[in-house]
Amino acid sequence: MSSAPDRQLGPDLAIATSIGDAADVLVIGLVSGPGSSDGPDADATPVPVVGDGILDDAQLAEISASLTAVGASAGAGEISRIVAPASIGASSILAVGMGARSALDDPDTVRRAAGVAARTLTGVGRVVTTLSTVDLGAAAEGFFLGAYRFEEFRSDKTRSTKAPLASVALLPGTAARDAAAELDRARSIATAVAVARDFVNTPPSHLYPEEFANRARTLGETAGLEVEILDDTALIEQGYGGIVGVGKGSSRLPRLVRLAYRSGASDAKKVALVGKGVTFDTGGISIKPAAGMENMTSDMGGAAAVVATVVLAAQLGVGVDVTATVPMAENMPSSTAQRPGDVLTQYGGITVEVINTDAEGRLILADAIVRACADDPDYLIDTATLTGAQMVALGTRTPGVMGTDDFRDRVAGISRRIGENGWAMPFPEELSADLKSRVADLANVTNHRWGGMLSAGIFLREFVADGVEWAHIDVAGPAFNTGGPWGYTPKGGTGVPVRTMISVIEDIAALG
Ligand code: BES
Ligand code: MN
Ligand code: ZN
Repeated sequence: MSSAPDRQLGPDLAIATSIGDAADVLVIGLVSGPGSSDGPDADATPVPVVGDGILDDAQLAEISASLTAVGASAGAGEISRIVAPASIGASSILAVGMGARSALDDPDTVRRAAGVAARTLTGVGRVVTTLSTVDLGAAAEGFFLGAYRFEEFRSDKTRSTKAPLASVALLPGTAARDAAAELDRARSIATAVAVARDFVNTPPSHLYPEEFANRARTLGETAGLEVEILDDTALIEQGYGGIVGVGKGSSRLPRLVRLAYRSGASDAKKVALVGKGVTFDTGGISIKPAAGMENMTSDMGGAAAVVATVVLAAQLGVGVDVTATVPMAENMPSSTAQRPGDVLTQYGGITVEVINTDAEGRLILADAIVRACADDPDYLIDTATLTGAQMVALGTRTPGVMGTDDFRDRVAGISRRIGENGWAMPFPEELSADLKSRVADLANVTNHRWGGMLSAGIFLREFVADGVEWAHIDVAGPAFNTGGPWGYTPKGGTGVPVRTMISVIEDIAALG
């Protein structure tokens, strides 16, 4: 899966049977040694993480001596570079700090260390690693995602002169069972995350609803999905008032994309995915301040993740039916834009007073949720860069997970297990009264700013059919990294929450 067919999204990944002599750099982990405190930045006498039977005692002693000589630290993300023993094929060793040994129980420790290594080793051809002895899949994902780069819009003037890390050979641990299958799975997952990142990183000049829909069609058809696209005329005819209302201020007209993967099993559970695809959010007539508005190129991060996830589900051949319902619109101010005070009719008939045109995500999602529920899914996951309040509540790296209690908790738990760190949030009942409108069934915002992430979720709840297990994931901060790179996360699009959604889908396939 690739957004541009000629683009390689990450390094070649392969299983290694020994360190061999073909690698330029050996990547190992470091954990804090005995006698040091168990804290994440403990750095006394770090111990190499090198698996069993891969290095002999003499090699290990030489590596430890070199690490001590350079003052190597086991602090998470710290890196040390040493010359390799002459008896090892690689000419140097990169040691990446992983914190306390107990942190190895969390696969994300491995994923992050591998990501740090991949970001450090630009210009390197071949790497061999022992990080995979702890968790092969996590190491593979971390290297792939850490090596991700997006330079489509740079000319030779500023494009990097060093190529991204080209290939990684991963040594399995002694307990590894089907290493080849685990690697294939990791490669597919990381590729899907990279596809979502590419969509988010493509600027709004080049990714607008029609173009986004076309690219989703190409990806979907290549993966063997059923594809249906409603254009602006079809949206008006069929009563998608939310998508039409948000999109009507722009010369780039809205779309609704539907992608369907059918597992083939007659008793398969049905999972519906819905993702916010605002290709640029100016706020509309309730226009946003200029400072930081450029970050609203990321306002289709939910849609990007949902498109990548349904394609990934097909590639992995999961045993559940998965649909993606993806509303796409550009929120612009103009003489044709919707006004504060306008009333629109959502798909399905609920009327909404648009108090603030910048609360547009919930309007396009409401239409898409009603449409998705018409297929009678067992589970519905929607995800969106929905509220600045998500970042006020949880910071920039922690998705807010809302919905029906049991499924919300299941999604948040899985999200933490896979390192995207979603956190369950409540629906305080008093907020629902604050969404009452003077003239319509609902207002699109409350008359105060408290609990803004939660009232957005409560608005969406009105459109979820009874009996559907539902989770809403607000990724306003987590989908787009405006800070520096860390672990396997680059600046810009992150691909969150692709890995949460595919893991939930696999969990449903396994447990119902
Ligand atoms: N796309 C924004 C939310 C957002 C803000 C995402 C910052 C990423 C970073 C959304 O459409 C929006 O404007 N929400 C408003 C809602 C308010 C008007 C109730 C907000 O958060 O201010
Ligand atoms: Mn907005
Ligand atoms: Zn928005």
